[in-house]
Amino acid sequence: MKTYYWLILCIMTAACSKEKPASNILKSDFGVLADGSKADLYTLTNAAGMEVKITNYGGTITSWTAPDRNGKYENITLGYETVEDYVAGSPYFGAIIGRYGNRIAGGKFTLADSTWQLPLNDGPNSLHGGEKGFDKVLWEATPVDGEEPQLKLTYLSKDGEQGYPGNLNVTVTYTLQKDNALKIDYEATTDKETVVNLTNHAYFNLAGRKAGPITDHVLTLHADRYLPVSETLIPTGERRAVAGTVFDFTKAKRIGEGIGASDEQIRFGKGYDHCWVFTDSGTTLKPVARVSDPKSGREMEVLTTEPAIQFYSGNFMTGEYKGKGGLSYPYRTGFCLETQHYPDSPNQPSFPSTSLKPGEIYKTTTVYRFL
Ligand code: GLA
Repeated sequence: MKTYYWLILCIMTAACSKEKPASNILKSDFGVLADGSKADLYTLTNAAGMEVKITNYGGTITSWTAPDRNGKYENITLGYETVEDYVAGSPYFGAIIGRYGNRIAGGKFTLADSTWQLPLNDGPNSLHGGEKGFDKVLWEATPVDGEEPQLKLTYLSKDGEQGYPGNLNVTVTYTLQKDNALKIDYEATTDKETVVNLTNHAYFNLAGRKAGPITDHVLTLHADRYLPVSETLIPTGERRAVAGTVFDFTKAKRIGEGIGASDEQIRFGKGYDHCWVFTDSGTTLKPVARVSDPKSGREMEVLTTEPAIQFYSGNFMTGEYKGKGGLSYPYRTGFCLETQHYPDSPNQPSFPSTSLKPGEIYKTTTVYRFL
């Protein structure tokens, strides 16, 4: 009998000591939407110590930690603690933007001889997919555990949703890589010709999300041309050389240096809110931007397959909305580097095309890597 008990004890101890590998992606509750549906939050971690939190509401990155020069990890993206806060007061913080990121003039375009009218939600134009873009919908989430954890998000944007033609099946996959990089893969297919321009709208402050204005950050953009805009921020069609202007970031420069210049384009954007275009408009993954914060020593590189990047210096931020945890984000306390196709491409034939036809696969990749 004694031997029998001893045997059972041995088996139980062995079973318990057999360590379960720690998961690199965990799910928790993120709150409830007005229609009663629940939002989830996924926490992705890597061995280096980086942690990225993403909710399936808008596919939004709510928090992201990165190391300073002493290895101290701190949250470097602007965001909130509950889904209710996002619904109540977020200017696209960390969200997936679609079906068409950036502006479409008059919210109107013609495809295959039909004209489509989108909701106007930015003066006379349509911005970031309309009144209820991809940033305001619940995505289907599939977590994939591993050394480089992934969150795969899918969404079916129905034919006619926000005025766009075609059922669009979208997949966005976030991968937290070992080398402290977050890779975002975008994919889409349609059953009717449509336009697509997907991006992520993370607001960064490399000194920490509550560290104040981002004007001392130092930025490099590997682009020698940008798109000048009209007063309502629609590209004029010109690809203007940055040389000799405040738009020249080909060499590392403080964001604050030219942000207050008496330049018509700066006046229209109320600061930087423009699209820089790359010489290589192909689909290879290439480094396009680098930004550092001299105080903390944090530095980030952006790589993309996209032909352009919108650099927005937080000019419309007011700090008016205070989230549940008292989180508010005043004027210019975050900046965005939104990789994308050019704004208003559906109306500008000289720009790289954003149309997607049945049978084609829309595919782009962007990587934000901390150095
Ligand atoms: C983009 C636009 C800006 C502004 C922000 C959100 O970056 O280009 O003009 O609308 O989104 O506030």
